[in-house]
Amino acid sequence: DVDPIVDTFRRPLRDLRISVTDRCNFRCVYCMPKEIFGRDFAFMPKDQLLTFEEITRLTSIAVAHGVRKIRLTGGEPLLRKDIEDLVRMLAALRTPAGEAPDIAMTTNGSVLAQKAQLLKDAGLNRVTVSLDSLREETFQAMNDVGYPVARVLHAADVARDAGLGPVKINMVVKRGRNDQDILDMASHFRGTGFILRFIEYMDVGASNGWKMDEVVPSAEVLSRINTVFPLEQVPPNYPGETSDRWRYTDGSGEIGVISSVTQAFCRGCTRARLSADGKLFTCLFATAGTDLRALLRGGASDVELSAALSALWGGRTDRYSELRGARTSGAPKAPRKIEMSYIGG
Ligand code: GTP
Ligand code: 5AD
Ligand code: SF4
Ligand code: SF4
Repeated sequence: DVDPIVDTFRRPLRDLRISVTDRCNFRCVYCMPKEIFGRDFAFMPKDQLLTFEEITRLTSIAVAHGVRKIRLTGGEPLLRKDIEDLVRMLAALRTPAGEAPDIAMTTNGSVLAQKAQLLKDAGLNRVTVSLDSLREETFQAMNDVGYPVARVLHAADVARDAGLGPVKINMVVKRGRNDQDILDMASHFRGTGFILRFIEYMDVGASNGWKMDEVVPSAEVLSRINTVFPLEQVPPNYPGETSDRWRYTDGSGEIGVISSVTQAFCRGCTRARLSADGKLFTCLFATAGTDLRALLRGGASDVELSAALSALWGGRTDRYSELRGARTSGAPKAPRKIEMSYIGG
């Protein structure tokens, strides 16, 4: 048995977000813009990816140190071959108290209808599906591969019916792109049991050309909805939740806003990220990670891996979003941030 660990701000390690591939079949403008992630973009070669055994071994050590929630991301996690096998291996892990960790996945939905039942049977608890608009033209332009709305909606239904719920729907709001669809999305998902979440467009990575004036502050999202469908705040599910919860006063369900730009939530941030090639990052906006694959493949013992993780988390000082204002206007030569498709959403 190993003890839970805390960082320099006394934040425990609770969530592990695992990117299982850096590839994606979408080219969302805010994440993998085509001009950069083009035909000749060099994705990770297969032999550099952690194997399922390696991922499970690292995760089991993280679980011994306090991780309770595992989220599989990417890139698009369902593009990783036989991903349900990894889910099955992770679902067999137990916390020191003997409980199974919560296992979730964030997906674009394109392969989800086919895989939902397999994933559920393997032990996946729930999924979050990305969908930025219900208008065909807007959504297809945002995913930039012409992927249709109806197929994502269908996949979300299949996931719900398979018991992978409550299914959350993530909408990244970018001013001038899809902010005209906020009300439409709210009205569509009201009363359906899906939990729609509006995400402020973030300056993650170095390729999306982020500008502050393209961010729609969550306060604006909420006030636009509240005028038509009155809302009241709901307390968080757990400390450090990314999303602020709101419910319709008429009982037709719940929405969330993720305000990483206008109201940073670093104070309660308990998340570590593992890239597909085995680097551990202690912040979404990190510029460097720690190469755990080198340790694994160099023959490190569990005790050594465990010590490396404790040292890394114990020394953690990250609070990028809280410092963003100072940084984006300041330091002209800030080091290049890691892309979200690599580090994991
Ligand atoms: P649940 O509460 O378990 O549903 O998980 P979650 O809200 O962490 O899940 P999800 O992957 O859907 O996260 C939603 C979005 O929030 C991500 O896609 C990111 O855009 C953003 N996000 C998640 N974690 C962080 C974080 O640590 N920092 C910042 N700045 N943004 C985050
Ligand atoms: N800003 C906010 N969220 C982003 N995502 C990817 N890029 C960005 C960004 N620049 C998130 C979205 C998507 C998930 C896979 O990653 O939430 O649903
Ligand atoms: Fe792919 Fe998700 Fe990034 Fe869109 S946001 S390009 S679906 S990884
Ligand atoms: Fe956590 Fe970094 Fe996001 Fe702050 S910016 S919430 S420290 S991942």
